[in-house]
Amino acid sequence: MPTPEAIIFDLDGVIIETDEYHYRSWQRLADEEGIPFDRAANDDLRGLTRRASLLKLLKGRVISEDQMQAWMERKNAYYLDYMGRFTPADLQPGVGEFLRAAKAKGLKIGLASASQNARPILHLLQINDLFDAVGDAFSVPNPKPASDLFIWVAGRLNVNPARVIVVEDSEAGIEAALRAGMLTIGLGSGERLAKAHLVYARLSAACLEEALNHLTRVQSS
Ligand code: G6P
Ligand code: MG
Repeated sequence: MPTPEAIIFDLDGVIIETDEYHYRSWQRLADEEGIPFDRAANDDLRGLTRRASLLKLLKGRVISEDQMQAWMERKNAYYLDYMGRFTPADLQPGVGEFLRAAKAKGLKIGLASASQNARPILHLLQINDLFDAVGDAFSVPNPKPASDLFIWVAGRLNVNPARVIVVEDSEAGIEAALRAGMLTIGLGSGERLAKAHLVYARLSAACLEEALNHLTRVQSS
């Protein structure tokens, strides 16, 4: 029976709960510019790139490319204020244990994040050494929900996409992993994870052995 050989993790909302800080940063920009925005609108930005998020926030309003750049930089400056304070204590519960259990099983470990800040965040959390390959916003031109980033990371890990498990919290991320032909674990609740092969409320509720058994059965059925 074919067994998984690698696990690729998303970063935001999986390894660290950054949603609140992305939200506060977009909200501040939106307030300054008089654009209606709230937490529900922010939830739709999960997994999207900075540019795709700004376009959603603009809801069809047209601004110049220079202004787009300036607004993205301003939002990121607000976010970096929060990010600069991240420490290993900000790792989501269960992540360290899950990563170590996967390593002990001989699985390769990858990261596939839409964020331009992914690498500095891994350093701040002091978990960069655990990853065999890191894909971020700079790795491929087509962001999630395109499969490109996951395929790129699988290539770096030298693993067949069909032998990869992806851990994701966003609809765009699950969609991208499925398009890549990978097995998926969704983290969180609600409709956005409906297509995932397996869903847990959070990683601390997940058991690696149980997930591997379940996903291996999915793969061979
Ligand atoms: C992740 C988050 C998004 C964020 C995106 C880009 O996918 O879920 O909320 O907008 O990364 O992050 P960045 O750090 O590049 O602005
Ligand atoms: Mg995410």
